[in-house]
Amino acid sequence: MTTQDNEGAAPQGGPEGAQGPEGAAPAAEPFDAVDVIRTKRDGGLLDGAQIDWVVDAYTRGVVAEEQMAALAMAIFLNGMDRTEIGRWTQAMIASGERLDFTSLSRPTVDKHSTGGVGDKITLPLAPLVASFGVAVPQLSGRGLGHTGGTLDKLESIRGWRAALTNAQMMDALEHVGAVICQAGSGLAPADRLLYALRDVTGTVESIPLIASSIMSKKIAEGTGALVLDVKVGSGAFMKDLGAARELARTMVDLGTDAGVRTVALLTDMSTPLGLTAGNALEVRESVEVMHGEGPQDVVDLTVALAVEMLAAAGRPQDPDDVHHALVGGRALDKWRQMIAEQGGDSRAPLPTAREKEHVVADHDGVLSRLDAYAVGVAAWRLGAGRARKEDAVQAGAGVELFAKPGDAVRKGQHLMTLHTDTPERFGRAVEALEGAWEIAPPGTAVERTPVVLDRVG
Ligand code: URA
Repeated sequence: MTTQDNEGAAPQGGPEGAQGPEGAAPAAEPFDAVDVIRTKRDGGLLDGAQIDWVVDAYTRGVVAEEQMAALAMAIFLNGMDRTEIGRWTQAMIASGERLDFTSLSRPTVDKHSTGGVGDKITLPLAPLVASFGVAVPQLSGRGLGHTGGTLDKLESIRGWRAALTNAQMMDALEHVGAVICQAGSGLAPADRLLYALRDVTGTVESIPLIASSIMSKKIAEGTGALVLDVKVGSGAFMKDLGAARELARTMVDLGTDAGVRTVALLTDMSTPLGLTAGNALEVRESVEVMHGEGPQDVVDLTVALAVEMLAAAGRPQDPDDVHHALVGGRALDKWRQMIAEQGGDSRAPLPTAREKEHVVADHDGVLSRLDAYAVGVAAWRLGAGRARKEDAVQAGAGVELFAKPGDAVRKGQHLMTLHTDTPERFGRAVEALEGAWEIAPPGTAVERTPVVLDRVG
């Protein structure tokens, strides 16, 4: 793999990036941040040069945090058109390095999920797709808030390490075919700054800002093809199908315009995916899936995404063959190689939490609702997630489910088990679950929502 410095990339660092040689006056800036903010505040369109400048000048520290906060809010309220979003994305890519996998002997394809509760799909998916001869460079993150992070999950495996050099990553892709590792700080640094700012200014849930944030990192990462898993429902950024469809369309267009073959699946996140939310619990469930024993929704979504990824990479496969590779041992062999390549011992016992508490059904009936967001918050409060990025996570903490919407339940039956090393956390986790589930009278027909809701290609 090679990395390229982008022509015209912003000098990194603080405001000194705008200074001339020592002792000289600072270089004049071609625009004034207040004019750019006013244009967007008043519902106007930003031109390409304004966008390039404002993203670059913010990365250099010339545009102040409060100015970018005002601009982000103006974008949140007034939106951006397709040309503006495309240019904004390119400007964020230009703020850092770009990876290049074109020297690999296999095609590359990546998957990105917009984040959900119990979303462990990357774990079985990357080895499954790699088992068909396609390289999967999966640059992942850690969890923040109620959604878990793939790296936190894998770090519950003894010895496994997330940080790889570019050379190690390339080697793993050539020899194993799948790598899940930490994204370097050199990819789209403008997005890293802006995302942290959006997080504290109420400007995360904006389609232009989410789409450009995700796609700048994915395009800079250099994958040839990309499949997006856009989550819809209480546990997702996008609560309704219409908004999720618009986000998916925006991201697919950005990828396609940048020469990356991109498709999106819209998938259900009204209830947790699978039966576990928490780091080691989700690794255990992923391994069960690869042994042919895991929950149906996890199997169905893994197969659906793998079929899309293989087609996007130019190696289309019959869905039955993909399903067989997932549950019949082929993905498991690749998983073991992938974990070993990064120092992990896939046969070592996974950590378990020291304390457990059960949530039981208070009457007979049919579970008619189990809210994804509430389960995510409970798992987070039990110690599976972090509130600040420097917090540590508990490997064994989380929520284990014993029923999903549509299942019959009996009074006194365990609906969930809460796991933590720190029992003082149980109270707040139980509070998060208040009103999160409903049991309808016995015999009520409860429709099970399919996991894949729509496709945008
Ligand atoms: N994930 C990202 O990387 N960026 C967003 O804006 C939202 C989710």
